[in-house]
Amino acid sequence: MWECGCFLVLWSELSVVWHPWNVKIRKRRLIDNKMKVVQLLILSCLVWEGKTKVQFPEQEKRPDYWRDFAQRSLKDALKLQELNKNIAKNIILFLGDGMGVPTVTAARILKGQLSGQNGEETQLEMDKFPHVALSKTYNTNAQVPDSAGTATAFLCGVKANEGTVGVSAAAVRSQCNTTQGNEVTSILKWAKDAGKSVGIVTTTRVNHATPSAAYAHCVDRDWYSDADMPNEALQSGCKDIARQLFENIPDINVIMGGGRRSMYPKNTPDVEYPGDKKQNGTRKDGRNLVGEWIDRVKEKRGFYVWNKKDLLSLNPNNVDYLLGLFEPADLNYELERNTENDPSLTEMVDVAIKILKKNERGFFLLVEGGRIDHGHHEGKAKQALHEAVEMDRAITRAGLLTSEYDTLTVVTADHSHVFSFGGYTPRGNSIFGLAPTLSDVDQKPFTAILYGNGPGFKLVNGARENVSTVDYQQNNYQAQSAVPLRMETHGGEDVAIFSKGPMAHLLHGVQEQHYIPHVMAYAACIGQNKDHCRTNSGSSSYFSHISPALLFPLLVKWLLC
Ligand SMILES: *[C@@H]1O[C@H](CO)[C@@H](O)[C@H](O)[C@H]1NC(C)=O
Ligand SMILES: *[C@@H]1O[C@H](CO)[C@@H](O)[C@H](O)[C@H]1NC(C)=O
Ligand SMILES: *[C@@H]1O[C@H](CO)[C@@H](O)[C@H](O)[C@H]1NC(C)=O
Ligand SMILES: [Zn+2]
Repeated sequence: MWECGCFLVLWSELSVVWHPWNVKIRKRRLIDNKMKVVQLLILSCLVWEGKTKVQFPEQEKRPDYWRDFAQRSLKDALKLQELNKNIAKNIILFLGDGMGVPTVTAARILKGQLSGQNGEETQLEMDKFPHVALSKTYNTNAQVPDSAGTATAFLCGVKANEGTVGVSAAAVRSQCNTTQGNEVTSILKWAKDAGKSVGIVTTTRVNHATPSAAYAHCVDRDWYSDADMPNEALQSGCKDIARQLFENIPDINVIMGGGRRSMYPKNTPDVEYPGDKKQNGTRKDGRNLVGEWIDRVKEKRGFYVWNKKDLLSLNPNNVDYLLGLFEPADLNYELERNTENDPSLTEMVDVAIKILKKNERGFFLLVEGGRIDHGHHEGKAKQALHEAVEMDRAITRAGLLTSEYDTLTVVTADHSHVFSFGGYTPRGNSIFGLAPTLSDVDQKPFTAILYGNGPGFKLVNGARENVSTVDYQQNNYQAQSAVPLRMETHGGEDVAIFSKGPMAHLLHGVQEQHYIPHVMAYAACIGQNKDHCRTNSGSSSYFSHISPALLFPLLVKWLLC
């Protein structure tokens, strides 16, 4: 019925617009307005259709569609017998903070729905990677881990205690005197020592847990600047994380993210928000870390930027060092980003790779989608999932700028969240939508997305809130949770590791998280295990890594072709 009505309204609208004498007498502007109304009507008809019927492509009814699909996948899988054993000149690690498997699936559906598809059938860029493994994420002292201990695992190759970065499990959180002697180095340092260019790009502050394990040795992830440290720790010689960013590894080539507040002396107004006193610099030691950095690299084609315009006006061919600090603390959520002033993760990754890839010895780049985690902690699934989709876009961009022939790309997460979606939703259901039935206990609707715990727990007159009375599609809606907590917690299950490029096949099976950098280093012939690398020259060669058993069939193939 409704569809019929919709068609009639459309028809009458069209006849008004396109009737010959009407066109002659009406002004152009009026017609444009009419056309907008028509477009809107068509759109609302389509939306209505999507809501009333479960629709899926007609071809999916044919068994042959699925059989051909599977046969193509099988053919691709069979090709994997020719393993890529090249030396990885470049390594890119994409870390989705808090990007558990349910988040990956939901982000995939969201990405598809953003481009008008049902979503379930969509492929994320990371879905296209040929190799997948599971990563066991626990910290040495925690079943459900935090981002600091896990970052130490996937960057330094050593499992560690929660809350600590770049130190072994012999170090105790917040106890300065347990730092010395327990430092462990990261793959970023191994890469730098091997002459590669290195970079860090994140949507959090650059001295946040994940990136800091790449360069700092700190018993407390919260020691962002010296103002965040106890006096006792300062007196015992422990250093804040911001300071270590500039002092530990001589000149990381690319550093991008947020965190200006930790870099300037206290009472220094922020460059972007001078009127907002909360954004003042915080340092007690009076140092201007940005100024010191600029002085150190300005003769070496080094540039500091704090906004998108300045970032995009740089010519990467003329830049060897880049410090980009776009907010006083973390960057804004992608959904709330000021698209004039602040770059997206994809834009940052684009510039970073163009700068780093100039080094003929290659590069190591850590990219963190750091605020997937924050969205989940706030119970704001829409923010979290848009962050994950943006990281996937950045993965696509990185793929266009590099080659699987010489670049190992790994996508993984530090840990999961107690985020879930379910409820027997029909195909194409909005990922932020309702399950199709009411609860058979309280007779109220429920959203497909729910959290095990978190700030979304809500009682109205002593009972579960009726979600149909609120806008559960809005950006900051907090999905319901079973247990009230101000901050939703991490989840303890394994996360995925997606990989492509040289030696990617070594990331297979169920592995401990600290295995990851050992594989990346092995692939790149850096770090502790280089026995398989050619010693007579630094250059990589495909054929030097092919066994005689493989060489013979290759020779036959070559002769036949
Ligand atoms: C280390 O510092 C803690 C206080 O933070 C103290 O209780 C402990 O005795 C110290 N240990 C050593 C070996 O000095
Ligand atoms: C921020 O800096 C301004 C200017 O130096 C100063 O007047 C103000 O008290 C500072 N506010 C805070 C909260 O540090
Ligand atoms: C929930 O809210 C919707 C929309 O206001 C209403 O139609 C429905 O009756 C409510 N359900 C219950 C059980 O209160
Ligand atoms: Zn977290």
